[in-house]
Amino acid sequence: MTTSRRKFLTSISMLTATTALPLHAFSFGTKKKLKVALVGTGIRGTTFWGKRLVDEYSDILEFVGLSDINPSRLEYGKKFIGAKCPTFVDFDEMMKTTDPDLLIVTTKDSTHHEFIIKGLEMGCDVLTEKPLTIDETKCQAILEAEKKSSKNLIVGFNYRWSPYATEIKKLLKDKSIGKLVSVDFHWYLNTYHGASYFRRWHGEMNSGGSLWVHKATHHFDLLNWWINSEPSEVFAYGDLEFYGSNGPFRGKNCRSCDHKSECNFYWDITKDKRSKELYVDHEHEDGYLRDNCLFRENIDIYDKMSAQIKYANKVVVNYSLTTYSPFEGWRVSFNGTKGRLEAWLDIPYNENIKIDQAEMHTREMEQTKEMKVDKQPIILHNLWKDHETLSVNVERNGHGGGDGRLQDKIFKTPEIEDEFGRGAGIRDGAMSILIGIAARRSIEQGKAIKIANLTELTPKVKRS
Ligand SMILES: NC(=O)c1ccc[n+]([C@@H]2O[C@H](COP(=O)([O-])OP(=O)(O)OC[C@H]3O[C@@H](n4cnc5c(N)ncnc54)[C@H](O)[C@@H]3O)[C@@H](O)[C@H]2O)c1
Repeated sequence: MTTSRRKFLTSISMLTATTALPLHAFSFGTKKKLKVALVGTGIRGTTFWGKRLVDEYSDILEFVGLSDINPSRLEYGKKFIGAKCPTFVDFDEMMKTTDPDLLIVTTKDSTHHEFIIKGLEMGCDVLTEKPLTIDETKCQAILEAEKKSSKNLIVGFNYRWSPYATEIKKLLKDKSIGKLVSVDFHWYLNTYHGASYFRRWHGEMNSGGSLWVHKATHHFDLLNWWINSEPSEVFAYGDLEFYGSNGPFRGKNCRSCDHKSECNFYWDITKDKRSKELYVDHEHEDGYLRDNCLFRENIDIYDKMSAQIKYANKVVVNYSLTTYSPFEGWRVSFNGTKGRLEAWLDIPYNENIKIDQAEMHTREMEQTKEMKVDKQPIILHNLWKDHETLSVNVERNGHGGGDGRLQDKIFKTPEIEDEFGRGAGIRDGAMSILIGIAARRSIEQGKAIKIANLTELTPKVKRS
């Protein structure tokens, strides 16, 4: 093994370690590249973890295999990514044939555990997209596989890496509001992005674990990281009142629907070149309808969610997730013994610009090099003083600029200590989904659920 590859593999363990310590200088560029395999050539696998890796890091890594259960999407995905490697419908065959250093998992959420566990067992470092998995049994199986393996697991939490989220972390870390005691965190998905989850597999509990897990894992991870403690107890309410069987009519999918003219959610997927080429052209293989009806009867997730979370350090959180808001945005406020911090993004009434709600999610997912940057406020209001308005950089594409920074950290500078501890490993992945899983159990059982009763993990007062 060449020096650079060995250094990468050593450094990757530091990235997932709870406290990253700088070891030694780290540089790529010697003869041998990092061998990367990827399973799941859907939108995230082909764009962020596919084409972007080829475009940005081809000097240090190479794809040795791509896998997907849909053979036709797999071939399209390979072309889109620009990889030169073989493709495999059979995942095990890919792993045996290509012997990768790093496996990237970008399949649908309910299958992550299969590939994470196999990858670790086959002696490979694994990077999985969020959420780690969708229930406590699969989470426990992953925890056990990781303990038995000498390899590492990274969870791709990109939101932590956006400059705006990092500024909040810095203010809390610097004790700008004293000792943190409570948090209000509210996330609003609009009728484009929110609805998109109900059009496909995310709308079914056994595929995505509901938005409590699929979507809120991002938010719970931010909370765990900002609060710097682990969740101990969750009480939640939730319901399905808008999408699914609540709709006034339904059809097989948008393209073939009799209600096109009267449905506000009508979307002609065939006019969206990328979606047509990625999904429609391969439907014949697996029946995956990307423009499925969001009023179909088998939708069984929640579309309104509200939870109270108690942390091991006694901080309490009020959290809510709305899936059919007229605008997309979020608000968070932190109460401390010395004052209060308020932050928000994309609330249209607070901005002087018109925000195109239909385009917001596309812009968030965009991986263009040209970054759109503007300044947004964070309010710091200390007790007995006037408030201060801090002006903070906000990047608009690639998940608030988090996407690119996450990949640079993984592939370019994993050995450099990050003062904000933004690298996420298995424990972070588990703690964020366990809040969502506890919320689901709380709704089912009508009582507060202790995180310690879900897996072998006991919540720590301080994330270490
Ligand atoms: N971090 C982020 O901001 C972010 C954004 C988007 C998606 N994601 C995550 O990326 C993952 C993929 O999401 P997506 O939007 O690309 O979904 P997608 O539906 O576009 O793609 C999923 C792909 O996985 C394949 N697949 C499903 N089951 C499989 C199996 N058993 N074996 C092999 N392939 C299988 C499908 O055929 C499809 O090609 C999800 O876990 C999602 O949570 C993360």
